[in-house]
Amino acid sequence: MYRIGEAESKRVEKLLMSGEIFRYGKAGECDQFEVDWGKRLGVAHVRMTTSGTAALYCALIGLKVGPGDSVIVPSCTYMATALAVVAAGAIPIVADVDDSITLSAEDVERRIQPHTKAIIPVHMWGLPCDMDGIMAVAERHNALVLEDACQAVGGGYEGRMLGSIGHAGAFSFNYYKNMTSGEGGAFVSNDEAVAQRGSVATDCCSYYWNPEEHRPEAQFAGLNFRATEISGTILNAQLERIDEMLDRMRGHKRHLLKIGEDAGLTSIQNNSLDYECGTHLGFIFDGEASARSFASQIKESGGKAFLPIDTGRHVYTRWDPIMRKQGAHHPSLDPFNLPENKALGIEYSEDMCQDSLDILSRSVLIGMHPDNDSERVEVIAKAIREAAADVLVSG
Ligand SMILES: Cc1ncc(COP(=O)(O)O)c(C=O)c1O
Repeated sequence: MYRIGEAESKRVEKLLMSGEIFRYGKAGECDQFEVDWGKRLGVAHVRMTTSGTAALYCALIGLKVGPGDSVIVPSCTYMATALAVVAAGAIPIVADVDDSITLSAEDVERRIQPHTKAIIPVHMWGLPCDMDGIMAVAERHNALVLEDACQAVGGGYEGRMLGSIGHAGAFSFNYYKNMTSGEGGAFVSNDEAVAQRGSVATDCCSYYWNPEEHRPEAQFAGLNFRATEISGTILNAQLERIDEMLDRMRGHKRHLLKIGEDAGLTSIQNNSLDYECGTHLGFIFDGEASARSFASQIKESGGKAFLPIDTGRHVYTRWDPIMRKQGAHHPSLDPFNLPENKALGIEYSEDMCQDSLDILSRSVLIGMHPDNDSERVEVIAKAIREAAADVLVSG
């Protein structure tokens, strides 16, 4: 989404002229990306997929999540996080976000059950979750952690790369993400068995492409979420851009955060300002009216401001297939109908995460962009100062 241009176009043209657009049978672009992304994250295994949703699903299969398991997901995430859990045959438990607009470690502790096999912290809008808190709860309860880093590609948390901290991580490279090949994804893990099971889910033929691989896991029926060399080559070009882009946005965010705080605003909780993506700046207000007034004044200046409650598909109340317990295309395959899942007794209601609804409707996020020059950043800074003065006086 952020930048795509000549470097990508040259690489794609070269690839197309070679005719080698299938990933297997050579050490090609996808192999290169998997090696380089693994090095960057410091993880042993990377497997490209066709999307972030597929990456989440394959990682869950890799972690052996299935019927009889619950998986904790945050109340604010793209619906695919919860749908991947259901696709794996398990049942999501929805937990609150805190003032960071990401999964609350405290609420995970409150809602975790003996049957909870995994927790999915989602680094929404490039904002890292409280990973120390979440890993500690997971360890106390013997749960696995799958980081949904789909919206946080390239970001970090206190010196470690997002996606590399839990037992597995998932990334999206769709059009809106920090690196993009139009569509695409990858899951990662340091655990070889997780990577291999996940690879079978990614590619039903995976074993036959690499018959020499040592496989402790039995083969099972997978599908096909194989990436193309076209995605691989675009992402190899995108890797060269990501650090400079995120550095710029982090710098702009820090500057605007200070402007806002000096003007009397309260920032959302930032869990790792020095390492995060810097794609969004957030302020939290006493009430929804102040948040709405602030956001509309920023928008008038051309800034990209929004209330997270307004994004619809990112709020649990709008996840229709989950809220209605329609977990599959056929009732006999529907995880919500399986006896081992019915025994978990998980129910959903509109008000089950009231604290989240409150936080999401009192917060304003402002999108950064690496192409913003200092003049543009100063226009946003001025708008923040003026809107803050207005809202804080009338509030
Ligand atoms: C937090 C989150 N998880 C998962 C996904 C799914 O990724 P994809 O659209 O590549 O399937 C997205 C994509 O928007 C996302 O934002």
